[in-house]
Amino acid sequence: MKTYKIAVIPGDGIGPEVTFSAVAVLKAAGEREGIAFEFTECDAGGCAIDKYGIPLPEATLDTCRASDAVLLGAVGGPRWDSVEPSLRPERALLGLRAGLGLYSNLRPALMFKELASASPVKNVESMDILIVRELTGGIYFGKHGRSDSAEVLSDGTVKGVTAYDTEEYSTAEITRILKEGFRYAQGRNKKLTLVDKANVLESSRLWREIASSMAPSYPDVELDYLYVDNCSMQLIHRPSSFDVIVTSNMFGDILSDEAGMITGSIGMLPSASLGAPGTPGMYEPVHGSAPDIAGTGKANPLATILSASMLLRWSLGETAASDRIEKAVRSALADGFRTCDIASSESDKIVDTDGMTAAVIQML
Ligand code: IPM
Ligand code: MG
Repeated sequence: MKTYKIAVIPGDGIGPEVTFSAVAVLKAAGEREGIAFEFTECDAGGCAIDKYGIPLPEATLDTCRASDAVLLGAVGGPRWDSVEPSLRPERALLGLRAGLGLYSNLRPALMFKELASASPVKNVESMDILIVRELTGGIYFGKHGRSDSAEVLSDGTVKGVTAYDTEEYSTAEITRILKEGFRYAQGRNKKLTLVDKANVLESSRLWREIASSMAPSYPDVELDYLYVDNCSMQLIHRPSSFDVIVTSNMFGDILSDEAGMITGSIGMLPSASLGAPGTPGMYEPVHGSAPDIAGTGKANPLATILSASMLLRWSLGETAASDRIEKAVRSALADGFRTCDIASSESDKIVDTDGMTAAVIQML
């Protein structure tokens, strides 16, 4: 039997709960499709800080590199808010993305018709957007720091500090992610929207120049441009008109949360982070560690379960198993199963994390 190596990083908060749901669904789908998995659990994030004093142990990166794919829950929480910035749990995520070379972040924002009434936006008939977010460049990885001209006053307050973070993109970084954007658009509804702030930022102007020079090579794709502020408005105004959005690291971070909310709950949004062919991809829900609901059973496991479905499709090429999970999620929703974040009607069958996981497994 074909056996795949999966590195599993449960992380913090609701991370372990939703990760174990997705692992259970993967196992069950694998049994039905004749494939098996060898799961290796690794530490990253706050739990790694507690154990080893650092958010991303080298051993975790090594395990990920030696795996076919990585499944991650979420990292971070208020417990580690006061640790030094270079040791924050979030550094684990950035370290994994950079360390594995995962420059392309796919965040599909798909509205399941059963959840239309859970959307905070009125009358959204359909929404099927693929956000292609650049993941290893821009302001997240640019030069940052503080000026050392600070003056500490006698009462302990600091005066005269300047802090900076820099948005920097090279033609190579922009070209490779735009190529992804064009290709995904070709495989979908052939519309690509580049989101930027070209009316203000030089780096955005470079993105536009490169996009327009590449467009003739993709004559079947209709390319348009939107400023990020306008895009955030248009997402609410006409969500069904978008197909593929390609954008920088930070704009993609912000817009994917917004798009997630329009689908009903960010608890529904999966993601894939991919690198050059042959590198293991990393799959995680777009939502965070939600420490406020950790351990309560309220976490919606569907974003992580759908991430597992993406893992099967994009890293393992196991399309049948991937489709099977997606269909099972749809069936569970159609049958009325809802975690509390996506509940909207009295006829809903409200379930907790384990209840939703069991419903999906039953539908497989
Ligand atoms: C995300 C998260 C991360 C990001 C944080 C936790 C570093 O918000 O994956 O969207 O900003 O990329
Ligand atoms: Mg985010």
